[in-house]
Amino acid sequence: MQTGAASDRENVVINALRVVTHTQLVDPDFVKHCLGCIEAMNNKPGFGALLEQNEVEFSQMLSHIGHCRSALEIGSRYGKSMQRIAAAIQPRSRIVAVDMPYSGGYGDAPAPEPILMQSMEAIDREGHEVHLFIGDSHSEEVVKMVRDLAPFDFCFIDGDHSYEGAKADWENYGPMAKIVAFHDIVNNVGCFKLWNEIKAAGHRTVEYTSSVWLGIGMVFR
Ligand SMILES: C[S@@+](CC[C@H](N)C(=O)[O-])C[C@H]1O[C@@H](n2cnc3c(N)ncnc32)[C@H](O)[C@@H]1O
Repeated sequence: MQTGAASDRENVVINALRVVTHTQLVDPDFVKHCLGCIEAMNNKPGFGALLEQNEVEFSQMLSHIGHCRSALEIGSRYGKSMQRIAAAIQPRSRIVAVDMPYSGGYGDAPAPEPILMQSMEAIDREGHEVHLFIGDSHSEEVVKMVRDLAPFDFCFIDGDHSYEGAKADWENYGPMAKIVAFHDIVNNVGCFKLWNEIKAAGHRTVEYTSSVWLGIGMVFR
C-alpha cells in the first residue's frame, strides 16, 4: 500500500486500479485474453518479436546517444536492442552485453543464446569492439569483468526486473556510465519503484512513456 503523498501519475494508476477492481474486470479469463492479444501482437511482423521495445520510446532514447563511443547493456536477450544501440552510436565503439545463460527457449519463443551470439557477431562485423558476457550481472565476477572495460558513455539496464535486482544493476553499473537508461519504468512494480527513487534523489532525468506498458527513463550525469 502506498503511503505519503502520491504523485499525479501514481494517482492516475491508483484510480485506474480502483475502477478495475470495482468493475471486477480482473478475472482469469480476461487476463488470459489479454495475454493472448499480446502474444498475437508479438508474432506480427513490425511489432518486433525479438526486440522487446516500444519503437517510439526506444527511438527517443537513441536520439540522445549518437555521440557515444561505448555502450553497455545489462539484459540483452536476443541482442536486438544492442544491435539498434550499436547502429545509433559512433563507428568503432566498444559494445558490451551481459545476459544469463539459457538452456532452452521459453514458451514458443526461440532460445535466445544462439540468436544473441549472431546479433553480437553482426555488431562485430560492423566494426565495433564487441564483448559478450554470459552470466549473472549481479555476480562479482561479471561486475569485475565489465568494470575492466569501463567507463561507458551509455548503459541500458534491462535485465533483472525485480526492485532489488534492478537496484543492484544501477549500483554496480550506473557509476560506470555517463548516461544510464532503464526499461519498464511503467509496467513493472520493481523498476517503477526504483525509477521514482532515482528521480527523487535529484538526478537529471528524462522519461519516455508513450506506451502505458513499457517506458524508458534516462539519467544524465
Ligand atoms: C526484457 S529482456 C531484455 C530485452 C532486450 N534488452 C531487448 O530489448 O530486446 C531481459 C533479459 O535480462 C536477462 N536477465 C535477467 N536477469 C539477469 C541477470 N541477473 N543477469 C543477466 N541477465 C539477466 C534475461 O535473461 C533476459 O534476457
